[in-house]
Amino acid sequence: MTRIAIDPGRVLGQIDRNVFGGFVEHLGRCIYGGLYEEGSPLSDDRGFRKDVLTLLRELRMGVLRWPGGNFVSNYHWQDGIGPKDERPSRPELAWGGTESNRFGTDEFLAYCAELGTQPYICLNMGTGTLEEALAWLEYCNGERDTYWANARRRHGQAEPYQVRLWALGNEMYGEWQVGAMSADEYVREATRWARALKFLDPGIQLVSCGKTGWNEWDRIVIEGMAHLVDYHSIHIYTGAEDYWTNVLQPHQAERAIRSAIGHIQHTAYRRKIQHPPKIAYDEWNVWYRKMTVDLAERYTFPDALAVGTYLNIFIRNSGWVKMANLAQMVNAIAPIVTTPETATVQPIYYPVLLHAQAALHDAVDVHVYGSHLDPVWPDSPGRWPYKVVDLGSFTSIDAAASVSANRERVAVTLVNRDPDNPDTAEIVLRDYAFAGPAEIRTVTAGGPAEPRVLPDVETAHMEHGEETPKGGTVVLTLPPQSFTLVEAAIQR
Ligand code: AHR
Repeated sequence: MTRIAIDPGRVLGQIDRNVFGGFVEHLGRCIYGGLYEEGSPLSDDRGFRKDVLTLLRELRMGVLRWPGGNFVSNYHWQDGIGPKDERPSRPELAWGGTESNRFGTDEFLAYCAELGTQPYICLNMGTGTLEEALAWLEYCNGERDTYWANARRRHGQAEPYQVRLWALGNEMYGEWQVGAMSADEYVREATRWARALKFLDPGIQLVSCGKTGWNEWDRIVIEGMAHLVDYHSIHIYTGAEDYWTNVLQPHQAERAIRSAIGHIQHTAYRRKIQHPPKIAYDEWNVWYRKMTVDLAERYTFPDALAVGTYLNIFIRNSGWVKMANLAQMVNAIAPIVTTPETATVQPIYYPVLLHAQAALHDAVDVHVYGSHLDPVWPDSPGRWPYKVVDLGSFTSIDAAASVSANRERVAVTLVNRDPDNPDTAEIVLRDYAFAGPAEIRTVTAGGPAEPRVLPDVETAHMEHGEETPKGGTVVLTLPPQSFTLVEAAIQR
């Protein structure tokens, strides 16, 4: 038995829809042959795969990051505008591919409009110049009679796109990044860029390039950039063959968030910054199998438990985490997989779907009283260097909860990481009572209802149910290795 105590009156933070964000990079078959396939019977006349659009739409992404990732650090956006047949092909250095440039800025922004999702563009601070970055911003947002705004109009877009979110480079600390630099060099360069970009369009929001959250790079960048940017970004990937490492390693994100908040608050206090930057977790996922070429990771259900835990962590940290981007969305380390004939989903799709569909206005306090896991940790954490053993002992259930603005609904997401045993969860509301049945959706591995659409892609199975609460308490069963969403009306 595990007791999940929820205090609907104790708000942890307002949930930003951008926490249910995505990321698509020119990499493997994410764009070409993924969300974009010219001439396919499954595509519309712009080349957008309709089956992929349908699956993405369900995820209600608040924001979509593009075009990279590592790819952006030698991407020249001007190659990707104008008549498609006149666009140059270029070698790209991040993944060793060839970029046809047939999907460029106008295509990406049309795609975001189609999805009803806010675009988020990452700037090239590798081979790119500040002049190019300013031209890109002018192309997207320019309202006056100027060269690049007029180029946009010539290409069919009369109104400014009003792209608000811009990132100052991607992972500029990494030796895998074209044009990588030291933290001090980054602060000097990004400061020049930030000032000029905000001169051109004061309405934009800028994202400084962070690392893991607790790194010396983060400290230097936050101290140098916090007065100029709206978000500090951090990235995390986890995952391992070992079951416990795989399902519990996402808790490393909590350490990262705490450390980044510490750096931000320290700097804000010292420099008297009124509106310190928030955290953008602008790449996160399970990723440890396919590290090169197309990143065609095949996910299992334990990976979905990790993804559900990540999202719970972001919800619990809603006061600071105001954007998070699942890396990535299609084919490359992605919930959606395509072939020329079909598109299907991997197990990690389901926690993203249920979280995005259920999350309400405010994240509220949750406490889990339950049996603690006692994993046998392997000597090595596997692909990623994150040991989480020191983060405390973990309960088998991980939980997050949110309430509507009028406090008339609650949504609770529960991950049961116990590999073998079901658990009885008793959800108890403080000062509130349930005002109707609790609707329950539970996802587990496999299941007979959904045939495997692609032979190498695992499925998951969702069941709908209902429980009758008594006062402020409702009791339900969580199968081993399951992700569960509980939704109900509440009253004071
Ligand atoms: O998402 C895959 C890659 O991981 C991205 O291109 C990069 O930013 C990160 O290293």
